[in-house]
Amino acid sequence: MLPETIDAGRFSLRPFRAEDAEVVYSYASDAEFLHYLPIPLPYTLASARDFIAKQGALDRLVNPSWALDINGVACGGVNIRFFATHRVAEIGYAVARRRWGQGLASEAARLVISVAFERLPELTRVRAMADARNVASIRVMEKLGMRREGLLRSDREFRGELTDEVVHGILRSEWHP
Ligand SMILES: CC(C)(COP(=O)(O)OP(=O)(O)OC[C@H]1O[C@@H](n2cnc3c(N)ncnc32)[C@H](O)[C@@H]1OP(=O)(O)O)[C@@H](O)C(=O)NCCC(=O)NCCS
Repeated sequence: MLPETIDAGRFSLRPFRAEDAEVVYSYASDAEFLHYLPIPLPYTLASARDFIAKQGALDRLVNPSWALDINGVACGGVNIRFFATHRVAEIGYAVARRRWGQGLASEAARLVISVAFERLPELTRVRAMADARNVASIRVMEKLGMRREGLLRSDREFRGELTDEVVHGILRSEWHP
């Protein structure tokens, strides 16, 4: 089981709380933030409440999820989902637009992957996937040391069209914490 909270100094990772709904609504309803994300449109306060309730209901053994907290304010989130009896994982991340470009997504994802490799000796591979046009997300994967493994053409149904997705991955043997 990965820890419920992780302290990174300038931010911490902790579970989403019901009180985060307003701030989640405010950053997640931003058109640039949700541009490549499969989240409901229009994004309302009820969508944010629903998101938080769903995060709380996730099985932490299989799909732990954290809010990225700066001074008590949720500014994004990270999650990791395990497959194949914890031998494979997929990482996901999002940061409020006003905090972009501060290295937060890379640092948060790096922390979670480090903890996962430390705590789960069977974990062999971590992957990440993104819309092929999502350059910021792909850059985060590169900064994590992930290798581009493939382009899945017209693979995902996204707001009425089929879009290309990239897959990046890193193996335990390649991970440098
Ligand atoms: C993707 C996302 C999480 C990145 O968060 P972040 O905290 O800004 O990420 P970081 O600061 O750690 O790294 C971002 C990198 O992308 C680069 N980048 C950002 N926009 C870019 C652009 N348009 N073109 C090229 N590079 C870009 C940044 O310069 C930085 O790289 P650098 O450190 O080498 O300069 C954030 O943009 C986001 O939340 N987007 C909306 C949600 C989303 O798409 N999540 C990913 C789903 S797969």
